[in-house]
Amino acid sequence: MAIYPDLQGKTVLVTGGASGIGAALVRAFAEQGSRVGFLDRDVEAGEALMQALTAEGRHVLFVPVDLRHIEALRAGVEKVRETFGGITVLVNNAAHDERHAAEDVTEEYFDERMDTNFKHQFFASQAVFSDMKSGGGSIICMSSITWMAGFGGMPLYTAAKSAVIGLVRSLARDFGPFDIRVNAITPGWIMTRRQLELWLTPEADAMRAERQALKRRLQPEDVAKLALFLASDDASGITSQNYVVDGGWV
Ligand SMILES: NC(=O)c1ccc[n+]([C@@H]2O[C@H](COP(=O)([O-])OP(=O)(O)OC[C@H]3O[C@@H](n4cnc5c(N)ncnc54)[C@H](O)[C@@H]3O)[C@@H](O)[C@H]2O)c1
Repeated sequence: MAIYPDLQGKTVLVTGGASGIGAALVRAFAEQGSRVGFLDRDVEAGEALMQALTAEGRHVLFVPVDLRHIEALRAGVEKVRETFGGITVLVNNAAHDERHAAEDVTEEYFDERMDTNFKHQFFASQAVFSDMKSGGGSIICMSSITWMAGFGGMPLYTAAKSAVIGLVRSLARDFGPFDIRVNAITPGWIMTRRQLELWLTPEADAMRAERQALKRRLQPEDVAKLALFLASDDASGITSQNYVVDGGWV
């Protein structure tokens, strides 16, 4: 991956950083020399990643947080700030793509899906604003091609991921005067361990190859490369945009 000298020493916060794309983001920023705090509810995976990267001489801090609870999120952000200093890069990455049938959705489940897939993106952005407003920053929010491609089977996930784009457009306008850039990354099918274990059947893989213009399976690093660029000063004029990393699916 490219090296962006301005990312060295910066404090980066990644939500959902213990596994999947989030873990690739934590590693990629740590390898830039950034100080990386990551919040996740998976304590075992979070501790293991922190230990592995610390053993390599990287500066990382794992804070166990269930992001559905906003006070816990705020406390997690504060812990990263106390340890590494003001946060100037935030990647809103955590989510959970559980399948559900529309007729089974209760009001409680609806709220839980929004808490898991959308609400924390706003409150994490709000929580880092005080750090970024004096010197600028970059906020990157993860969406998904599911809403663009019109996938069924998880309407609340899809709705939450489309809402992310509205949030990005609006926060970019509100935070722009402070030199804070806000952009979305919209992944296609990225081969995380969870995706491999749950969904990669031969039939689904054939459908993927048919739909993508690029025929290979995309990896978490394909997303991390774009996040590094958007976080860096090389993207200094870019805000309020949505970048699709899907190998040409949509
Ligand atoms: N992998 C894909 O194919 C794909 C496709 C489109 C979009 N995305 C998006 O990319 C991002 C990362 O996806 P992924 O595939 O790596 O997911 P993943 O399920 O592999 O990892 C998500 C991480 O978030 C954490 N997390 C989930 N809910 C949490 C909560 N309430 N509190 C704290 N931590 C929580 C999990 O513990 C996990 O470590 C998500 O925003 C997802 O919507 C992924």
